[in-house]
Amino acid sequence: MEKIVIKGGVALNGEVQVGGAKNSALPLLFATLLADGTSELCNIPALRDITTAEKLLKILGAEVKAADHCYRIDASRIESVEAPYELVKTMRASVLVLGPLLARCGHARVSLPGGCAIGARPINLHLKGLEQLGAKIKLDHGYVEATADRLKGAKISFDMPTVGGTENLLMAAALAKGETVLENAAREPEIVQLAEALNSMGAQIEGAGTAIIQIQGVDKLMPLQCRVIPDRIEAGTFMIAAAITGGNVLVREALREDLEALISKLKEAGVSVEEEADGLRVQGPRRPLAVDIRTSVFPGFPTDMQAQFMALMSFAEGTSRISETVFENRFMHVCELQRMGADIQIDGHSAIIRGTAQMTGAPVMATDLRASASLILAGLAAHNTTEVSRIYHLDRGYEKIEQKLAALGARIWREQE
Ligand code: EPZ
Repeated sequence: MEKIVIKGGVALNGEVQVGGAKNSALPLLFATLLADGTSELCNIPALRDITTAEKLLKILGAEVKAADHCYRIDASRIESVEAPYELVKTMRASVLVLGPLLARCGHARVSLPGGCAIGARPINLHLKGLEQLGAKIKLDHGYVEATADRLKGAKISFDMPTVGGTENLLMAAALAKGETVLENAAREPEIVQLAEALNSMGAQIEGAGTAIIQIQGVDKLMPLQCRVIPDRIEAGTFMIAAAITGGNVLVREALREDLEALISKLKEAGVSVEEEADGLRVQGPRRPLAVDIRTSVFPGFPTDMQAQFMALMSFAEGTSRISETVFENRFMHVCELQRMGADIQIDGHSAIIRGTAQMTGAPVMATDLRASASLILAGLAAHNTTEVSRIYHLDRGYEKIEQKLAALGARIWREQE
């Protein structure tokens, strides 16, 4: 197994390029199953989750060719409609094949994803929506068996905004007969890109990015050509890297409109964030100020930035409260940050952080994707050496993060455990 080693204390300077968004690339890759023909997707990040998605597409019968962050996917022949447990358990986003397979083939057999480090993460809202479109759903040996002659449009109101649920239903409704209305839909930028991509394939979708999305079903969709939007969470992670080290970094392709909630909290913490022609320039203060955050669905403060922000608050002047409202167990990074000297108390869904001027490097263990990033960020600012183990979690969502940080002056490298 590999680990990442960091000798902290260096203020980062320079420019860093953000890659394509993992959480947009994944639904787009599966959307290609909706069309009989060859799709081309570019700016796909080189991540473990993307490799897993590629494996799943091939299991289903698609031909996949990848080169230089571009994918050509020929989904003319779907030879299987089953997403196996061995694969789904490694990447829960595999459940996003449900909508496309049901819409294209009238049948899907997808393993239930099971639990995950950050929470139970059920897919009941996906299934309830697909049933409302006329699918017959049954659970059998840990698999969802879904069948439908032809999906029929319906009015679906989500009990709570769900990114994956909105994505599955968008892809299913695109080929359903008649109109579908999704109420209380997720509004993330990745949803907007998926809807735009589906429309470029011939779908008729309006309202993506708002809580109410209307879809007029069509009979056929054409293959997709598109470029994945920049990864706002990778961008936010590098913004915090600049802030936490008191550096000055231009984060290329960081889009202000996708990061408003984070930007306003960084400014409250005394971090300078300026929009430039090709990105956001972040200048960290000598020491950040404590600010409270409460995660929520887009456009609120993203849960995927909570762990990273907690690393920043660990060094802040004052006491901050971080409330996690989206997932029930997303504080796994707390005990690892405490090993580095952070003063954090968990109180239900909140963490109280008493900022400390100095944290010290230590051997720590990654538990999930964004917790890993949080430990790297703390290591960049802490004194001495931090070693982050189990970085396979990190490689799911960050492409060459240690190389990008080293190019900004960080003393960081990867080595065998
Ligand atoms: C997506 O997960 C992202 N993953 C997550 O990013 C992100 O944290 C999450 O959205 C929230 O923004 C991808 O896009 C691949 P949800 P998703 O359905 O779709 C509950 C990362 O770090 N819920 O919006 O699974 C659920 O348990 C990852 O990149 C139900 O109860 O999230 C959670 O509490 C982590 N029933 C809340 O809704 C359902 O049927 C939000 O989940 C569906 C969801």
